[in-house]
Formats: sequence, structure tokens, C-alpha cells
Amino acid sequence: MTTKPPAEEAEPITGQAVSVNMLKGGVGKSILALNIADRLSIRGHDVLFMDLDPNGHITESLGYADVFADPTHDLTNIVIHEYGEYEEYIYPTDWEWDFVPASVKLSTLESELSENSITLLKKNFIQTLLDDGRYDYIIMDGGGEWSHIAKAAYGAAARTIIPIPPGDMNRSGFKRTYKRVVQEMPDELNFRILAIVPNMISEYIKHDKADRRLLESLNRSDTFAKYLPSFARIPPKEWDAIDDGEVEVPKPGMRKNSNLENALEEKKVPFGRYVESQDSVSENDRLTLEHLDELARIVEREGVTNE
Ligand SMILES: Nc1ncnc2c1ncn2[C@@H]1O[C@H](COP(=O)(O)OP(=O)(O)OP(=O)(O)O)[C@@H](O)[C@H]1O
Ligand SMILES: [Mg+2]
Repeated sequence: MTTKPPAEEAEPITGQAVSVNMLKGGVGKSILALNIADRLSIRGHDVLFMDLDPNGHITESLGYADVFADPTHDLTNIVIHEYGEYEEYIYPTDWEWDFVPASVKLSTLESELSENSITLLKKNFIQTLLDDGRYDYIIMDGGGEWSHIAKAAYGAAARTIIPIPPGDMNRSGFKRTYKRVVQEMPDELNFRILAIVPNMISEYIKHDKADRRLLESLNRSDTFAKYLPSFARIPPKEWDAIDDGEVEVPKPGMRKNSNLENALEEKKVPFGRYVESQDSVSENDRLTLEHLDELARIVEREGVTNE
């Protein structure tokens, strides 16, 4: 009889692409995608991060505004016309991982991709790079629209991480994402959710507010609870104990942390690099980093494991 090694010692499953997506703006797709890519790289993997959101926000925040404005940086050439070399699209960064910035020409890619050709992003770019062994992981920021590019990114990765902040609008964005994306992916893709990440949580969950409603409904859901990282998981019986004042009120989920935003917008660095540069690390920053590392670990294991 062979015994399974403990999850912590399991070999990372490399050769994967992951899209961080949700059909709703401002939920944390870009910030999570960037920081998961960075944490995977810190963990010793070869990582490519792709900004496939035509708004180019993360590309500009990372200091690649000139590439964004450059009409020759056009993925259409290689993805659709199979013309050019990968190197032309891939930029080194200061943090070991490589980057494919967005550009104004993503709109051309969007218009040239059709329902029949959305597999080309996978075939002519992502899968080739993975098969070549150039990268252990390709992480994509796929934008918030149900566009051809987003479909191509979803399909190319067949693995997604979905951030969801509290509030009714985000809830309907999540429902839309689940219905249109997850349920409608062709079976042969073996599409799977790696994690659902309650994001920007700020309230105590003792009170019946949007934060609690999000966390409680996900945790009580037969369909979705299994996708929650351990930092967002509260078993059903614990909710009663919380209400009865029997346990200390936990602070689950990816918490709102302004340093997550400041690191990128002001210091122009991934969050972990900002934390490393501090003389002392606040409790909030330490937790945020721990949660990002758990998300990196979830990618390495192709999903949440119940440790
Ligand atoms: N946990 C968090 N704590 C604090 N700020 C956060 C958190 N998550 C995201 N943000 C901030 O919220 C804003 C929206 O996040 P982000 O840009 O990553 O979302 P998005 O889903 O990519 O948005 P868009 O659809 O516009 O591309 C950003 O300013 C980001 O820094
Ligand atoms: Mg974004």
C-alpha cells in the first residue's frame, strides 16, 4: 500500500495557464493576477504574466505605457496570422517573471478573433510556450467583459480564479460569470474553478451586512464552498457559534488593504516586494501576503485542497 504524501510536500503541478476573471469591473482581477504571478515566481517557478485586458490598466501601472501605446505590439500577428517570434511580445520585469503587456492593438485582436477562432490564443501562443517548457505557469488578467479575448483566455487556461467583493452588483456579476463561462465551457476543456476569492472584505462578519452575506452564502453553498481558500472558509456550524458569542469573530477572506493598491499605484511594485522593503510588517500586510501565498499554492495544486 502506498500512502499519499502530505499535501504540503506534493509536487507542484506545472505547465498550467490560469485566468483570473469575473464578468464585472473593479473586483480585484488585475491586482490578484499580478500578485499571484509574483508569488509563484517567488516560490521558484518560471512565470509569464499576460495583461489581456484592453483597458491596459495594469500595463500602465507597471510602467509599460509606451508599450501599451505602441501599435506594433500587436498579438494579432502571432495569434491569428502565426507571424513573428514570441520574444517580440514578452518583456522582462524587475521581478524575475516575464510580462506580456496589453496594447491599443488588443482591440484589433478582439475584432479579428471570432467564435470559431478563440482557440488560436491557446494554440499559437499559450500552449506552445507551456509545451516548450519556457514557463511553469502563465497567469492571465482577462478583463471584465464577455469578449472574444476573454473567451480565448478562459479557454486557453481552462482554469480560473474568481475574485468577488461583497455587494449585490458583484453577486450578479458572479452569477453571470458562472452561468456564461463555467457552465458553458465545452466538456472537452475540462474547465475548472481553482478558487473563489471573497475580496475587499472590511466588516466584522458578526453583523448582517454585505460582507457577511457574501461569506456566509458561499460557505453554505453546496456548489461553491469547495472552492473557498482556507482563509475564507467557515464551516456552517461555526456560524451559529459566532452568533452565540461562543467563539472569537473570525476575519475571513482577502481583506481590504490599501497597501495592496499603494504598492502598485505608488511604488509600482508587486505587493510582496513592497512588504519586503519595509522595516516592520503590519499584521494586515502579513495576512495579505499569507493569503496571496495560499492562492499561489492553490495554483500549484490545481485547486483548493482540504488541509
Ligand atoms: N483587497 C483589496 N484591498 C484594497 N484594495 C483592493 C483590494 N482588491 C482590489 N483593490 C483595489 O480595487 C481596485 C480594483 O481592483 P482591480 O483593478 O484589480 O480590479 P479589476 O477587476 O481588475 O478591475 P477592472 O475591471 O477595472 O480591470 C484597484 O484600485 C485595486 O488596487
Ligand atoms: Mg483589471
